[in-house]
This record gives sequence, C-alpha cells and structure tokens, in this order.
Amino acid sequence: MHSLPAQPVVQLRHVSKEYYRDKLRIPVLADTSLDIPAGEFVAVMGPSGSGKSTLLNLCAGLDRPTTGTIVVAGQDLGELSESQLTRWRSEHLGFIFQLYNLMPVLTAFENVELPLLLTNLSRRERARHVETALRIVGLEDRMHHYPRQLSGGQEQRVAIARAIVTDPVLLLADEPTGNLDAVAAVEVLDLLAQLNAEFGKTIVMVTHDPRAARRAHRILHLEKGRFEEADIEAIERGRSSGGDGERRRSPRAPSAEIAG
Ligand SMILES: Nc1ncnc2c1ncn2[C@@H]1O[C@H](COP(=O)(O)OP(=O)(O)OP(=O)(O)O)[C@@H](O)[C@H]1O
Ligand SMILES: [Mg+2]
Repeated sequence: MHSLPAQPVVQLRHVSKEYYRDKLRIPVLADTSLDIPAGEFVAVMGPSGSGKSTLLNLCAGLDRPTTGTIVVAGQDLGELSESQLTRWRSEHLGFIFQLYNLMPVLTAFENVELPLLLTNLSRRERARHVETALRIVGLEDRMHHYPRQLSGGQEQRVAIARAIVTDPVLLLADEPTGNLDAVAAVEVLDLLAQLNAEFGKTIVMVTHDPRAARRAHRILHLEKGRFEEADIEAIERGRSSGGDGERRRSPRAPSAEIAG
C-alpha cells in the first residue's frame, strides 16, 4: 500500500478557453474548476465540439488557457516556457490517440523507444524499458513488426506502450477505442483498467462510447463549457431508447469533486 499524495494530479482553477476564428469568438471552457485525484480513472463525454480534446490539450500543456490556472502533477503549467513544457511533458504524461499516431517507418520497438530518446538513458537501459512496456501490453513478440503488420488493436497497444514507457503519472487518452472493433476495444479498455489498478496511473479518457465510459470510476459530461457529473445508467438508458444518451445528464447535483 502506498498513500496517495494530498494534491490532485490535475487541478483546474477558473479555467476558461476561447478561440477566435477571424473575428468570431468561440467559447469552449467557461470558468471551469476541476480536481482529478491521484489514481482516478475518469471518462469525459459530451457532444462533438464541446471541448473534450481541448481539455486534454490544456492538461498536456499543448495549449494554454485564456484565463485560470492548470496544475498537473504539482506543476503550474503557466509557469513553463514551451521548451520546458516539452521536457515536462516527456517526463509526466502519456498521450493516447484515436488513430494511434505511430510512425509507419519505425518498428513497434522503435516507436515505443521514441519518448526515451529525450532522456539520458543508455541504449541498453532504453531497450530494457521498451521491452517492459511491450510486455505489459502483451506485444513482446511483435517488437520488430512495423505498424502496417499489426492489427488496429495491436497498433493501439503499441501506442499505449509508447505512452507508458517513461512511467508517467498521468495518461491522457482521446477516444482510444474510437477506431477499434468491439473485441479490440475491450482489450484496450482492459489494459487501461490494469494500468490504473495495478500501476496506479491516473487516466483521463475522452470517449463517445458508454461501454468505454463504464470502465471509469467517474464520468464527466462536458457541455456548453461546463462539467457535470454523469450517471452511466442514465447514459445507457438514453442509448437503448434510441436517444442520444451521451447528451443526457444525470439529475444528480454535480459532485463535490468538481471543485468550486
Ligand atoms: N486551434 C483551434 N482554433 C480555433 N478553434 C478551435 C481550435 N481547436 C478547437 N477549436 C474549436 O473549439 C471547439 C472544441 O473543439 P474540441 O476539438 O475540443 O471538441 P471535442 O469535444 O473534442 O469534439 P469531438 O468529439 O468532435 O472530437 C470546437 O468548436 C472547435 O472548432
Ligand atoms: Mg475531440
């Protein structure tokens, strides 16, 4: 047993985000405060364009909020320059994308090794970490395959190995099962659940799929710039009755964990 640090892994305080296209203002997040404690597995749902990917980009320091502060793993991202952010990201974050984003000209091994090239590890140490990550995702026997020689589910598992090879505290996943068939999706979700339960990774997963969201401890529904705690039963009822369940909200009040 290890005790959890008191500070949440992700802390948003009064974050707003707006984009401008020509003169048109596009509000995305409106004065949002949110805590994600260490060890939590959170699903983020919400309609297309509601800002789910924007949220992940802000947490990754790939984009900056218009106002407010974002603290991830104890670091106020607003205090870091772009080059400091690049380094910080490589040490603290793993990112998983819907379309895997593997380099087609590199083998599974070389793809997973990429984030380690930013570190001071020796070639031999890098190989040890890569092999461990590929073993965790069950692909040590595909190490020397190229992405085109892998199934979609295997490609995503390589991408997950790449995301965990630096042993980050936080995994950000943007529709990680969005491109997979049902069987491969379950494998990827099992893996994420294992990384959370066994390896203590904090996970924020954007998804449109209630079956994926069901695997999380908590579901946040993002709409009109705000988060609400969502209820999986209500979402699934909405689906089975043919409605757009994902848009349906829980009648419950937002939980206290959505910080005020
Ligand atoms: N770099 C940008 N410049 C201008 N507008 C942007 C930019 N990035 C996102 N937006 C706008 O911000 C809004 C939120 O986009 P975002 O990609 O976060 O939505 P999403 O919830 O991830 O949607 P989806 O479910 O379709 O992936 C959209 O209206 C989008 O057009
Ligand atoms: Mg998106």
